[in-house]
Amino acid sequence: MSKPADSQRMEKIVSLCKRRGFIFQSSEIYGGLNGCWDYGPLGVELKRNLKNYWWRIMVHERDDVVGMDGSILMNRAVWKASGHEDTFTDPMVDCRSCKARLRADQLIDKKGIKQCPVCGGKDLTTPRAFNLMFKTFVGATEDESSLTYLRPETAQAIFVQFKNVLEVSRKKLPFGIAQIGKAFRNEINPRNFTFRSREFEQMELEYFCRAKQGMQWLDYWKEERLKFYENIGIARDNLHALTVPDEERAFYSKGTYDIEYDFPFGRQELEGVAYRTDYDLSQHQKASGKSLEYFDEETKQKFIPHVVEPSAGVDRTVLALICEAYSEDEAPDEKGEMETRIVLRFHPRIAPIKCAVFPLLKNKEPLVAKAREIVALLRPHMYVFYDETGAIGRRYRRQDEIGTPFGVTVDFETLGEKDPALRDTVTLRDRDSMKQERVLVKDLPGILISRIS
Ligand code: GAP
Repeated sequence: MSKPADSQRMEKIVSLCKRRGFIFQSSEIYGGLNGCWDYGPLGVELKRNLKNYWWRIMVHERDDVVGMDGSILMNRAVWKASGHEDTFTDPMVDCRSCKARLRADQLIDKKGIKQCPVCGGKDLTTPRAFNLMFKTFVGATEDESSLTYLRPETAQAIFVQFKNVLEVSRKKLPFGIAQIGKAFRNEINPRNFTFRSREFEQMELEYFCRAKQGMQWLDYWKEERLKFYENIGIARDNLHALTVPDEERAFYSKGTYDIEYDFPFGRQELEGVAYRTDYDLSQHQKASGKSLEYFDEETKQKFIPHVVEPSAGVDRTVLALICEAYSEDEAPDEKGEMETRIVLRFHPRIAPIKCAVFPLLKNKEPLVAKAREIVALLRPHMYVFYDETGAIGRRYRRQDEIGTPFGVTVDFETLGEKDPALRDTVTLRDRDSMKQERVLVKDLPGILISRIS
């Protein structure tokens, strides 16, 4: 059962994202551009940490996957062969009462009668196909001969480079090609903050295999991907692997899972894991006239490999990470009175800032100098933030709100003023438990690296 939508929680998350610099509306000072978003100083760190961890797990820590980075603009023939030009459409409906343009599957169904979700009107046009690809022109002329599209998925670059990558990497089946990059879809109804955007990023793997092993690899990748989400701090209870029913799958797919997450606005897809058979490579081989076959040296046979594709959205995962991390609890203020504390409980491995360093007082030069020394010690290993302004409790709160997992405070003990045995030690504060431990400065890099990697 999907959890009930929590619009209040979502409003708080959207407001925090803007207030603390995670996500802003694109072109905000001009009224924005619907379906487009900009990531601020903290959002960009979170996004990078996610992409880097995906790359580490999907490429660097495996022998059977290599990466590539394809161009966004490709020959129009790619989109004809892949089927996108003819079939990458959503059924669209107009409400004649309020003029809203709607996706047919977003209409309200009241006792079998379709209604506009905006005004409740029943005077709707019949659904018609709307192609989601953004058109553009390459070169100086703007006609059919120069027309192409902004890519609606990164996958096609992998298929059309399959032979080149196979040759240079000298991989044997099964093996995969991974890519992270922008994709563009002219969504009829962008909504739920960044969830359905017109410009977004994908992290895709095309895992090529023999036909008889396709279903096994599909299940393997579903499990791997669920593990990935758990390893970035998303609770297993909030993740769901939906088996896409036969009638909803692409006609060429023999099996698809949707990995879904319980967002505050309902259970929605984070990633699709699809067994796409040999459809894409076959289409490109047919249309280009170039062989995209694999030569099996053992059996001396040539064939078109099948492919299993885990395809994740960067932006959707960033949103899921923020939703998962958002929490409110109680903590004492400077006077010892309990106040509400907003905390982003990010897994340390994806938190935008790993460690904040504070001198207890900003007007005590030896404290400031020592804190600066610690910043320099940690910076080669992680993103560190130095803060000397305001009461120490306030400084902790500011970091809790943006999800910094560790805080290091330099105090008079660090200088050995009270007890020489404590010289060159600092307090290390844990964001979630708010507990502090006293550690040697020289041990800090090792302790923190082990907790954030
Ligand atoms: N190559 C397969 C493919 O593109 P998809 O299910 O259409 O499959 C894969 O997209 C993932 O890309 C989705 O699970 C989602 O995370 C992300 N995605 C798709 N459309 C999106 C949109 N309009 N806004 C944000 N993310 C989107």
